[in-house]
Amino acid sequence: MKVAIIGTGYVGLPTGVGLAELGHQVVCIDRDVSKISTLQEGKVTLYEEGLSELLKKNFAAGNITFTTSMADGVVGAQLVVIAVGTPPHPVTHEADMRYVYEAATEMAQYLQQNSYTVVANKSTVPVGTGDNVESLIAKNVAQEKFDVISLPEFLREGYAVHDFFHPDRIVVGANTEAAKKVVYELYQPLLKLNPQCKLLQVSRRSSETIKYASNSFLATKIHFINEMANFCEKTGANIYEVAAGMGLDRRIGPSFLSPGPGFGGSCFPKDTMALDFMARQNNLDMTLVQATINGNNQRIKDMATRILTALDRAEEHPVVGVLGLAFKNGTDDCRVSPAMQILQEVLHSNSKLTVRVFDPQAMDNAKLLLESYATRVTYCHSAEEVCQGADVLAVLTEWPQFRDLDMKSAAELMRQRHIVDCRNMLNADTARALGFTYRGIGIA
Ligand code: UDX
Repeated sequence: MKVAIIGTGYVGLPTGVGLAELGHQVVCIDRDVSKISTLQEGKVTLYEEGLSELLKKNFAAGNITFTTSMADGVVGAQLVVIAVGTPPHPVTHEADMRYVYEAATEMAQYLQQNSYTVVANKSTVPVGTGDNVESLIAKNVAQEKFDVISLPEFLREGYAVHDFFHPDRIVVGANTEAAKKVVYELYQPLLKLNPQCKLLQVSRRSSETIKYASNSFLATKIHFINEMANFCEKTGANIYEVAAGMGLDRRIGPSFLSPGPGFGGSCFPKDTMALDFMARQNNLDMTLVQATINGNNQRIKDMATRILTALDRAEEHPVVGVLGLAFKNGTDDCRVSPAMQILQEVLHSNSKLTVRVFDPQAMDNAKLLLESYATRVTYCHSAEEVCQGADVLAVLTEWPQFRDLDMKSAAELMRQRHIVDCRNMLNADTARALGFTYRGIGIA
């Protein structure tokens, strides 16, 4: 079927390429002219493992096209997917819905030309958004010509292609049989590839809620293991052994029990705050979600304190080496990255302090966020270069290649020998044998 995807970001682009690979005719729409012109050359605009190859293949086959024209995408489409951003309001933290509503309003003028179109909210949207989008469109389009559904996405950044083709479940919030039929036709090829995958048909509001509930629960699970890591540091237990013991219980499961500096990214922080906001709008006090938000924010500050504590007061102009800037390995995305937040906390604490940074994928995105510290940040081309003259080496993102850092040369390159390893990528015994002080997460 012909599918229009509005928004070519971390959700829209992998979804569009994935649906094209499944055999659908996909048109991706974006207002961003430079993004669209890059995509029209068959080039990806974001880093995702495997996406570039799939885009090139389907672009060459004519299965996917890119345009800034809403009309070109929407006219003739059986399904129009809204995959635009819903960033948190800087003060209230509620989801900013303007891009969703602008897309709905703009597409409405073309839907009238179609016999029947399903409009799917794939962006993470507050509960009840489907009703609002429906009434927005109904101002210009006869009700029998369209349905609005919720079609939440569960892709992880860095694994978007993998997750698209290996979903645990497909959640559909549709209120009519006609809409359910279109969605089944859309995903039929994917369900064939994944017989164990469940296509879960629920109400629109339940579907919108499932997204927030899932992300908030995962964030809570991560914060829990991070608090257990603190507990292990005090009691001499090993967080990985504890996580292994917990994860063998099928009711807990082994996933998302990796300790770190705190969770980040463009989803967990946004979605937990949005859920808390919606709860408070309904006079509900969701204490667990609030504790996760506040605890995670505090953890990121605590990680910065660990770095500053490791610095020997003697250095007039301390130098901190930072490995990793992306919010997690496998992506170039620095949005709400704990690594970036820790780095900024450290820079704020002492105007005489400078940093040397390296990230395999996220340097360009990080530079945009670090412009105000220009003279105090040295952008390095390798982990070894970061160590040159540094007093403390902080590991903030779990890029596997950081495990291969030659600790002996690091010891020779650094001015002082302190390691604050917020992802436990380096070997504590090797570090200490080379004269480093070493502080990991949830381990001795
Ligand atoms: C998340 C959800 O996983 C995904 O289903 C949803 O569609 C979007 O939000 P994403 O934000 O891309 O995906 O990344 P994810 O892999 O979930 O990691 C989020 C944050 O949690 C990262 O900062 C990561 O480092 C951290 N994390 C994750 C941990 O600290 N420990 C873990 O065990 C897992």
